[in-house]
Amino acid sequence: MDVLGIETSCDETAAAVVGERVRSDVAWSQEIHAEYGGVVPEIAAREHVDRIGAAVRRALGDAGLTRPDAVAVTAGPGLIGAVLVGLCYAKGLAAGWDVPLIAVNHLEGHLMSGGLDAPLVFPFLGLVVSGGHTAIYLVHGPGHIRTLTSTADDAAGEAYDKVAKMLGLPYPGGPVVDRLAAAGDASRVPLPRPFTADDRFSFSGLKSAVRNHLQRADRASTEDVCASFQAAVIDCLCGRLMRASRATGVRRVMLGGGVAANRGLRAALLATGLEVTVPPLARCTDNAAMIAFAGRQRLLRGERDPLSVTARAVWPLDVGP
Ligand code: KG4
Ligand code: ZN
Repeated sequence: MDVLGIETSCDETAAAVVGERVRSDVAWSQEIHAEYGGVVPEIAAREHVDRIGAAVRRALGDAGLTRPDAVAVTAGPGLIGAVLVGLCYAKGLAAGWDVPLIAVNHLEGHLMSGGLDAPLVFPFLGLVVSGGHTAIYLVHGPGHIRTLTSTADDAAGEAYDKVAKMLGLPYPGGPVVDRLAAAGDASRVPLPRPFTADDRFSFSGLKSAVRNHLQRADRASTEDVCASFQAAVIDCLCGRLMRASRATGVRRVMLGGGVAANRGLRAALLATGLEVTVPPLARCTDNAAMIAFAGRQRLLRGERDPLSVTARAVWPLDVGP
């Protein structure tokens, strides 16, 4: 059963074919947003329109297919205009080929992405940290997912990008802050490890604390600010993850999202003693193989969606009993 996956929820135009294994995987990043210092939703949607046809043709060509057995597509959450491009395109393909359509929650794609390279072992805790999302999930099995906590405001990657901007560093800020942090002193700037009253992350609060520090006359060096900020983000993520592990008794952890590239985070997660799996980076950042894989799992369970399915900017991921 070969499933064509389509992903356009943010600034990656992606298409892939997944059967028993990944048969093709095309992900084109939209570089244009760098000059604006962040993703511009309207531009992202227009770029997807320009590229989606070619991305799908390339994915089918690389897989040696003319018609897959089903089409799986991200239907949310994400930038609504961007999501709509992929969803409408997928509907057209599914209708034209007369094959099933599966509308996939982007976060389910991230959570299941570890299954592209190794068999998934349930239950596990999923830590998704990207420019758009930060959450910890308890995954009992395919179709059985519970959100344990998420961010009340900014995602971790978004906070990285905003702090980088305050420091005059280029977009995307995560990789630059990560590199500078390695040369800084994390004890130099005292920063909070903020959580909301209902136990959710608040990276916006952390970002504001950095801004307040930068307004001081005796501000620390850029490297020290980066190191202090990064240490606070890592403490929030690892601390909450360990608490989730103690509360659930689950020690297996799967990491996903672009912030998974962070060297400090990877090292800190491995030091927790939990059984942490970090999939290859190309599986952690937005891609269509993870969408095809999650859709294929649902298809194998007998699920499919009507062509009337709608795009959703917000779509909490709690499914199953
Ligand atoms: O998953 P992703 O590619 O796209 C989204 O769905 O958002 O994640 C992109 C985010 C950006 O905010 C970027 O700054 C961040 O991941 N990022 C990093 C690192 N590499 C990318 N954040 C921290 N450290 C890194 N090394
Ligand atoms: Zn994502």
